[in-house]
Amino acid sequence: MRIEHSLAGLRAALGAGRQVGFVATMGNLHDGHLALVREARRRLGPDGLVVASIFVNRLQFGAGEDFDEYPRTFERDAGMLREAGCNLLFAPDEAVMYPQPQTFQIAPDPALAGILEGEVRPGHFAGVCTVVMKLFTMVQPTISMFGKKDYQQLMLVRQMAQQFALPLTVVGCEIVREPDGLAMSSRNGYLTADQRTEAPRLYRVLAELADAVRAARAGGRLDPGELARFEADASALLSSHGWAPDYVTVRRRRDLLAPEPDELRGSEPLVALAAAKIGTPRLLDNIEI
Ligand code: PAF
Repeated sequence: MRIEHSLAGLRAALGAGRQVGFVATMGNLHDGHLALVREARRRLGPDGLVVASIFVNRLQFGAGEDFDEYPRTFERDAGMLREAGCNLLFAPDEAVMYPQPQTFQIAPDPALAGILEGEVRPGHFAGVCTVVMKLFTMVQPTISMFGKKDYQQLMLVRQMAQQFALPLTVVGCEIVREPDGLAMSSRNGYLTADQRTEAPRLYRVLAELADAVRAARAGGRLDPGELARFEADASALLSSHGWAPDYVTVRRRRDLLAPEPDELRGSEPLVALAAAKIGTPRLLDNIEI
């Protein structure tokens, strides 16, 4: 695996004529990231060039968030990527990624970027979309893989690629979970031993919420009032175990808005999403329904 830190080095390593599969990361890798690398390899075959980036993007962190503490584990990450079959690791520093202040930025549609995560973390998705657009411009991938754990991020990146007619396919990959159900995340490393024991409850609560929605739908009795009760019960259960939920909610998959009454009764694809703090660490998860 070749490692490049500069744009000139990246361009030389990309060469021409090969299909490029791209995985953008902020490092501190886990099996979820490696699954994206393997999926890129699977789709492109042995002749494809699988590229990963590691860059902790200051633009997507709000004031008081964990930009400074975000673990930088470059040597370990590079070893994991090499093992997973990555061909090229692009690891720019801030002077390469942002040689001047990034005054031109992507402004994602507030209808999607301003809800859920965007409501709790204002400006977060503008920072994500700006760096992803810049990485796409630099790496010029044919396909780029994103995990479904960051469901809203995946949707926004996909919309951005479509609306700017970028010549690439954004591929959403399934969440990779620990054996106890906890969705893999770089931020799981922040959990204390007690919090780690408690953490899988987020997935269990979402799974119960999804089951309740499926059962009520099958019985033809799901309406907005019933759904609101399910959501409130799920949130209260988390709170009673020491969590501070930002949201526990069931939305339409296509735009993450609340389903209309006839959509609740019908077969509109839905997704249950949750974000909650357990102590200081904040975890996200979701389950498609
Ligand atoms: O999901 C992440 O790790 C980041 O948001 C991303 C896509 C690498 C952009 O910095």
